[in-house]
Amino acid sequence: MKKSTIVTIVSVTVIIPLFLLGLSINENIAAQEAINAVPKIAKFESRSAEWGKNFPREYDSYMLTKKSDKIDDVLKKEPALVVMWAGYGFSKDYNAPRGHAYAIEDNVNTLRTGAPVDANSGPMPTACWTCKSPDVPRLMDKKGENDYFTGKWARWGNEIVNPIGCADCHDNETMKLTVTRDYLKRALDAEGSLKYADASHQELRSLVCAQCHAEYYFKMTEWTDANGEKQKAGVVTFPWENGFSAEAMEAYYDQREFADWTHALSKTPMLKAQHPGYETFITGIHGQNGVACADCHMPYVREGGVKYSSHNVRSPLEDIENTCMNCHSKNEKEFKAIVQRKLDRKNELSRTVTSILAQAHLEAARAWELGATEEEMKPALLDIRHGQWRWDYSIAAHGSFFHAPEETLRGLGSAINKAQDARIKLRLILAKYNDAEYVVPDFSSKEKAQAVIRLPYEKLVEEKIQFLNGLRKDWVKQATEKGLFDPKTTEGVVYKVSYQ
Ligand code: HEC
Ligand code: HEC
Ligand code: HEC
Ligand code: HEC
Repeated sequence: MKKSTIVTIVSVTVIIPLFLLGLSINENIAAQEAINAVPKIAKFESRSAEWGKNFPREYDSYMLTKKSDKIDDVLKKEPALVVMWAGYGFSKDYNAPRGHAYAIEDNVNTLRTGAPVDANSGPMPTACWTCKSPDVPRLMDKKGENDYFTGKWARWGNEIVNPIGCADCHDNETMKLTVTRDYLKRALDAEGSLKYADASHQELRSLVCAQCHAEYYFKMTEWTDANGEKQKAGVVTFPWENGFSAEAMEAYYDQREFADWTHALSKTPMLKAQHPGYETFITGIHGQNGVACADCHMPYVREGGVKYSSHNVRSPLEDIENTCMNCHSKNEKEFKAIVQRKLDRKNELSRTVTSILAQAHLEAARAWELGATEEEMKPALLDIRHGQWRWDYSIAAHGSFFHAPEETLRGLGSAINKAQDARIKLRLILAKYNDAEYVVPDFSSKEKAQAVIRLPYEKLVEEKIQFLNGLRKDWVKQATEKGLFDPKTTEGVVYKVSYQ
């Protein structure tokens, strides 16, 4: 073989690949350095696109949350819920969660937030923005927490405009994970098993989520403003003082005689669980073994040689290879089957509870109609309150059936018990008033159930659409003029709701 041929072969097979490898390593080092670099981003910058200039991979993967855009109308699937939430916003409209990019869109579009006509009209308080947007920590920082929590939801319509974003979880100077909602820090310290100051990096990979995926209520708090005037704030507060379990939180609310609303049919002082995702998760096998939310919902992924956290927060079943299979050796089909089985078991018990509770509310309404007294009704209503709370606590976080199946099924079991106790007591009252055979009205579809609770659905929809075409458009315009609104996060988003 000629010397020149040998040189050619050597260069093709060895030198060129080595050179290319060197290039790609350099590229990777540069990319990895960019990830580690400290950016120049303003404190509580709520426009994610600004952060995205420095961190394109995290930003691009975050933008993929837009793909989770399906409207899944839960009231249509589970009409009993309409009866269970009579007199409360959730009976109007309730969809399963979508991607983080939709947080503002869905909050503004849902019939629950109604159709305000100006900054001071209801129905909801400012607190309803709290788990939707990085504009929230920005405003809390600017105005103070009490001022932020004062007034109606519509007050911040032209300030809170960007969906969940970088500033919700990251420090602008160090990019470290950080809790931007002080009420979580206060709640952890009050509960006591993990003081915020002692939280490890791995724990922060869950605590950033716990800022929003947790149970809360609006605690009425008096404060004095700069003009010396007394104001009332509805401050988001986690009821964790007695512990994380359904019973501990139930006792917390009972001690304060707190009610989210009075049930329109049964007149029960009700509790609405929000989404105790963190509290239930930590009781499960993964929580107990120190696995964090981010391990499954924000897995490390590779692009070329660069490793980064996927910010496409979604179902881990859509990326089993980078989630479950990182720690377990089963295959995709098996994982899906495991999760499905847990979901089916939860659904079976959950549907049992909802059917019993809806009937209990209707039977209570009938008993009132027949002239039952408060004293007669009180024990049954307490059972309804506790039964519905325990049911809601068990399922409202959507993922608890997988995160903590035992705790979920235990909660549902005790809810069935409470709800049946209520029905036995109510049937005795009905018998006393000569209506032992009372048959509850048909609530087998969303429409029928909404008719049973006399919900003026069409009017609500009409007013909502007027609001969306009017005041809501002004909000976006004003926020754009103030330089607050980041149009990129909602670019390409299609308007989707359950009512049109
Ligand atoms: C819901 C909370 C949350 C939001 C919102 C969020 N991040 Fe993160 N981010 C995390 C978590 C959790 C990690 C993993 C941190 C770790 O393990 O060190 C992370 C990691 C990072 C890192 C470190 C490198 C990596 O990929 O692991 C960067 C850079 C980053 N995020 C940028 C962003 C940007 C840019 C945005 C906005 C588009 C954003 N993040 C939004 C939670 C969040
Ligand atoms: C600032 C509040 C906030 C933070 C922080 C937050 N979430 Fe969410 N999350 C929400 C809201 C609100 C929704 C529902 C959005 C909708 O339906 O429009 C949601 C939806 C979800 C969904 C459903 C997504 C889908 O496509 O169905 C998952 C999963 C989820 N979050 C997990 C997490 C995890 C894990 C973290 C932490 C890494 C986290 N979230 C941090 C508020 C938050
Ligand atoms: C071991 C993996 C794992 C961990 C850790 C984990 N999750 Fe999940 N999560 C899942 C699975 C699996 C589902 C069910 C997904 C499905 O049904 O497609 C789920 C569902 C959810 C849902 C409901 C999504 C929907 O659209 O219905 C939310 C919200 C959620 N998780 C938030 C969290 C939060 C917050 C944490 C931490 C406190 C967490 N998860 C920790 C695996 C995990
Ligand atoms: C970061 C590592 C990690 C990830 C990611 C992870 N797991 Fe696990 N998983 C664990 C650990 C640790 C245990 C406890 C193992 C033990 O004690 O034997 C566990 C236990 C389990 C168990 C047994 C629980 C029981 O007793 O029924 C199941 C089922 C399971 N995981 C499913 C999943 C699925 C599905 C996913 C993906 C959505 C997943 N895991 C993701 C670490 C992980």
